[in-house]
Amino acid sequence: MALVCIEPLTPTAESHARELAQIWNVPLRRDYTGTSGVKVVVSELMIGLGFVDTGKGKPYYVDFMTAAWKSRFVTGLPKRHIFRRALGVHDKPLRVIDATAGFGQDAITALCLGCEVIAVEKSDVVVTVLRNGVVRALREDESVHSIFEKLSVVEADAGVFLTQVDHADVVYLDPMFDKPKRSAKSAKEMQLLQDLLAPAATLAEMEVLFHLAYEAASQRVVVKRPLKGKALVKAPTHSYKGQSIRYDVYVKS
Ligand SMILES: C[S@@+](CC[C@H](N)C(=O)[O-])C[C@H]1O[C@@H](n2cnc3c(N)ncnc32)[C@H](O)[C@@H]1O
Repeated sequence: MALVCIEPLTPTAESHARELAQIWNVPLRRDYTGTSGVKVVVSELMIGLGFVDTGKGKPYYVDFMTAAWKSRFVTGLPKRHIFRRALGVHDKPLRVIDATAGFGQDAITALCLGCEVIAVEKSDVVVTVLRNGVVRALREDESVHSIFEKLSVVEADAGVFLTQVDHADVVYLDPMFDKPKRSAKSAKEMQLLQDLLAPAATLAEMEVLFHLAYEAASQRVVVKRPLKGKALVKAPTHSYKGQSIRYDVYVKS
């Protein structure tokens, strides 16, 4: 199901909510008669996503100002961290394209490793929520400016973007497939993405994206997979395993 409505959470957010409703061609919450679907919630400074069915929990906002993020901005990632090893970060800063940016958690983690990151996301709604999180972080904490200045958020289909880019060391992919009928409940933000973007990309589309990524990267392609998930397209050069996920690394010869 796609986006169904926009909800202003404060009277001052009303005009911004109307603007977004017009852009995305959906009604305001008060005019939406359905009982399910994903809504965008707008307050004075924040833009988030929530379920129309409030029984499914509070809205989700991209928040890079949590204690965990702040500490990561200061201390970076441990030397042996699997994400660092998967990207192949050593002394020289890498230029990374995150071709499936989503809410930017992986893209910002790559920034914390000193990478220059282009975060590409095809959903205009997701891009808006991500950019709002970045803007609020920059507003709240000047010390993160030097980190975020290496980030560009691009609204585009990576299938097109990757054919136009002239230099990337690493292309990172975190494909999202439709949720299996019988699976453990995923995190709230992932449930929102799955509902908002359904139907998700097909395996065939992701295979095409993988090949474009492989063409565009000068050093490697990294694919995030569920720990026990099948490799995308072909066996990787090597993998780094975490508790629930795995990074498959395709090193270019
Ligand atoms: C699993 S989410 C990524 C989560 C992300 N790694 C994070 O850390 O927040 C997958 C995202 O990829 C995006 N996506 C899928 N195919 C894409 C494409 N061809 N171009 C750009 N974005 C794409 C989807 O819209 C979705 O937001």
